[in-house]
Amino acid sequence: MKIAIMGAMPEEIEPLLEYFGKYKTIEYAKNKFYTLDYKGSEIVIAYSKIGKVNATITATTLIEKFGCEKLLFSGVAGAIASSLKVGDLVIATKLSQHDLDITAFGHPYGYVPEGSVYEEADKELIKIAKSVALKEGIELIETIIATGDQFICEVEKKDWIQKTFDAGALEMEGAAVALVCNALDVPFFILRSISDAADMDASFSFDEFLESSAKISAKFIISMIESIIDKTK
Ligand code: ADE
Repeated sequence: MKIAIMGAMPEEIEPLLEYFGKYKTIEYAKNKFYTLDYKGSEIVIAYSKIGKVNATITATTLIEKFGCEKLLFSGVAGAIASSLKVGDLVIATKLSQHDLDITAFGHPYGYVPEGSVYEEADKELIKIAKSVALKEGIELIETIIATGDQFICEVEKKDWIQKTFDAGALEMEGAAVALVCNALDVPFFILRSISDAADMDASFSFDEFLESSAKISAKFIISMIESIIDKTK
């Protein structure tokens, strides 16, 4: 079994590299991929750099070049739902691109012909996440995640995304990863820990909590890896 763990920023994968300890570094497509063996499985870890295009390149590379059969994403997100606090863990049930707009042709936001507004995450990986959370007494919030090439720091924009996509959290890579994985039939899972409220204080909150929230997300991903590997034995 070959499993990809992906983040968007160095801070999102550093706790994973620290945990697994020994890895090989392979440079490809102007990026670094960290490969290691863990309990009989192969793991490939990479951060894509921010945004949908970078995420697309990295997810595709992890699958097509490295042969990863599952992809887990770990990182941070802005909260849309007012109940979400910094450090909360959200998992995507489905994802949409909030900045994809050909409404001029009568289509809904997030839709292009032959595509769909939402990409569904893998149900089996969500089930594993829920059982890990239950066992460890961790609260996981299942929600729709909206993705776009914008750092959202405006309540009006956040409210529009909430209203248009019924999303509870937002970030800048998830839907791109989802599209790649669904196109290539690779089960994927998107986990995010909240770093900010996507409001006027978002950039300060993001800077303050990026590292701590990224660690919370990475720690949960490690527990999921253990569970996935146990199940394949
Ligand atoms: N990732 C974390 N916070 C974000 C925000 N406010 N906008 C977009 N992506 C984010």
